[in-house]
Amino acid sequence: MKVLGIQSSPNADGLTARTAKAVLRGASEEGATVEIVNLNELDIKPCLACEGGWGKCRREGTCVIDDEFQPLRDKIHSADATVFATPVYWGDLSETAKIFLDRLRRCEVKGEFKTLNGRIAIGIASAGGTGNGCVKCLLHLEDYLRRVGFTIFDLVTVTQASKEHKLEMLEKAGRRLAKMRP
Ligand SMILES: Cc1cc2nc3c(=O)[nH]c(=O)nc-3n(C[C@H](O)[C@H](O)[C@H](O)COP(=O)(O)O)c2cc1C
Repeated sequence: MKVLGIQSSPNADGLTARTAKAVLRGASEEGATVEIVNLNELDIKPCLACEGGWGKCRREGTCVIDDEFQPLRDKIHSADATVFATPVYWGDLSETAKIFLDRLRRCEVKGEFKTLNGRIAIGIASAGGTGNGCVKCLLHLEDYLRRVGFTIFDLVTVTQASKEHKLEMLEKAGRRLAKMRP
């Protein structure tokens, strides 16, 4: 079992990263191969909406922009499960999460290119002190993940108040995830 963690906060050691790492730690304890990716360290540009709205993504399921989008997409395809963690910014996903998932959605949305079907995902939204908008953020993340074909294993909100028990829970989720059949 191969589990990929994608964390989309600029803070490589912040709460968002800790949530993804908690799942990976649990999975690794059960023998899974794990990898964490800091999305903000990658060069992934926004969608150009080329050719008047639908371009090569519609025709061929690939993107015209030559950057680090496709290598990360390939990593998702080669993993059995992906943990996608975003901080909550204004009740929504982080900018880097949106930019990456916008392009993934375009490339994966068409029937014959929807090759993530059956892959497992955990979505995590990490908020600050107020926790305002964390459910809305998670709802948006769920829509992205389901639309590209993932089977959702869990969707989790984490706030400053809930982080201690949620981090424990996420580690347990990782252990369970690793025992699932690839
Ligand atoms: C631009 C910005 C917008 C934010 N908006 C919200 C928000 O709407 N609701 C909330 O509870 N926290 C909000 N926060 C706080 C972050 O969600 C919180 O600090 C989060 O845990 C950051 O994770 P990190 O430690 O991985 O960076 C915001 C933070 C930033 C920088």
